[in-house]
Amino acid sequence: MTDDMQSDALVLFGATGDLARRKIFPALHDMLRHGRTLPPVICVAHTPGWDLDRLREHAHAGIREFGGSVDEALFRNLASLITYINGDYEDPETFAALRRALDRRQRPLHYFAIPPAMFSVVVRGLQAADCTRGARVVVEKPFGRDLESARLLNATLHEALPESDIFRIDHYLGKEAVQNILYFRFANSFLEPIWNRNHIRQVQITMSEDFGVAGRGRFYDSVGAIRDVLQNHLLQILALLAMEPPLGTSAEAVRDEQAKLLKAIRPLAPGDVVRGQYDGYRGEEGVGRGSDTETFAAVRFFIDTWRWAGVPFIVRTGKHLPITTTELRAEFQLPPQRVFALSESGPLAPNYLRMRLSPTVSIALGARTKNVGDRMVGRPVELYVCNSHPDEMSAYERLLGDAMDGEAMLFARQDAVEAAWRVVEPVLSHSDPVCGYERGTWGPPEADLLLAGGRWHNPRPPQR
Ligand code: BG6
Repeated sequence: MTDDMQSDALVLFGATGDLARRKIFPALHDMLRHGRTLPPVICVAHTPGWDLDRLREHAHAGIREFGGSVDEALFRNLASLITYINGDYEDPETFAALRRALDRRQRPLHYFAIPPAMFSVVVRGLQAADCTRGARVVVEKPFGRDLESARLLNATLHEALPESDIFRIDHYLGKEAVQNILYFRFANSFLEPIWNRNHIRQVQITMSEDFGVAGRGRFYDSVGAIRDVLQNHLLQILALLAMEPPLGTSAEAVRDEQAKLLKAIRPLAPGDVVRGQYDGYRGEEGVGRGSDTETFAAVRFFIDTWRWAGVPFIVRTGKHLPITTTELRAEFQLPPQRVFALSESGPLAPNYLRMRLSPTVSIALGARTKNVGDRMVGRPVELYVCNSHPDEMSAYERLLGDAMDGEAMLFARQDAVEAAWRVVEPVLSHSDPVCGYERGTWGPPEADLLLAGGRWHNPRPPQR
C-alpha cells in the first residue's frame, strides 16, 4: 500500500462517549503498542464543560478499564496526538473548526461513534465544510432498523462518499476467530468436498451471554436480539460458513460471495422464529414495563442453493443464558451402514465439526475411535486444537487499522447489509408475544420446536 492511501488524520465524532472509551481509545493504545504510527486524532463532541484535559482523562480511564493496562509512555504519545473540538453537530462553525484543524491533510478518516440519527447531520456538515474530499467514513452498527431505513442511511452516506470509502463496522468480522472460519474452510482441501447438503445434515450456531442488558436497557429495549446481533454478527458468521469459495483474493471477491450467500437465505417466516425474554427484564432500568422486546431469539434459516438446499441452519442468541460463548457446530450424516452394529450399544452419535469463536478460539472434530480390547466397541472423541493467543489483536484494533489503510475486506458492504435486513424483515414486527425464560437457562422450551425432534447442542463451559 502506498502512503497516500493511508489516512493522514483520524476524526473521532462522539469522542466523549461510551464506544470511544470502551473500544476506540484502547484500540489506538494497542496500535501504538504493536508499533503502528498514528496520525493526529481530532476528537469532536458536544459535551458541556469538557476540554482537552478532560478528554485525555477519559481516554486514559477507558484504556485502563477496557484495555488491560496503560503503558504511560505510549499514552503520552497518544495524548500528544489528540486535539479536541467541542462543538454542536448542527453548527457550521464546528465543521469550519474541523476544516482548520485538518489543514492540508488529504485523507481524513471520519469515525462516527455517534447515534445513527446524527449521521446525516454530520455527513452534511462535513460536506458543506469541504471535509469529505479524499475522506473515508467509518460507521457503526446498527445500520438502520429495517430494510427501508438502511437504504435511507446508505443514500445519505452516498450523497457525500462513494461506497469504496464507506467502512461499516461489524466488529465480529474483525475477530480472529471469525476470520479463522474463512481460513479453515479455504486453506484446507479435506473439508470443501464434504461441505454441502450431501454430507452435512444440520448446522447450529449459539451466541450466548451470561449477563443481561448491562446498563443499556433504553437502547436495548428499542432494538432486541434480532436487530442487535442476529441481523448482523450472526448472519455474517453464517455467510462465512456457508459461502462459495471466492474467485481470487481481493476484498471484493470475498465480499461478493458473502453478499451472494446472504441473498440466497430464505426470508424468515413466523414459524421459523421463537422469541424469548428473561424473567425480570421488564424491571431493568430504561426498559418499558410492558415491553415485548426479545432478549433471546432462536431461528431456523434455509439457504436456497444447490449446496445447502434442505439443510437447516439453526441459530440462537440470548442474554442471561448459562455461559458467555459463541460456538458453531456442523453435524455430518450418520454412516450409511452400521458395520459394528453387533457390538455397539445405543445409537451412534454423528461426526461433527465444532468451532468455538469466543471467549477462546478452538476447532474440534467429533469422531469415534475403538476402545482397546478384543471387542469392536468404541467411544466418541474430539480431535481438538486450541488456537487462542494471549496477544492477539482486538477486533477494533484490526478494523481501525484496516480502515486507515483503506482495506475493505472485513467491513460490511451495502448490498450485504440490505440482504441481511431482507432476511429478518418479515419477523421484525411480531404478532406473537415473547416466551418467558428463567435466567441461567438455555432460553424458553418453545425453542425446541425449531429442532423437529432433534436436540440443542449446548456449548460446554470453556475448557481452559
Ligand atoms: C454488540 C451488541 O454488538 O455485541 C451487544 O450490541 C453484545 O449486545 C455484543 O453484547 C457482543 O460482542 P462480543 O464481542 O462481546 O461478543
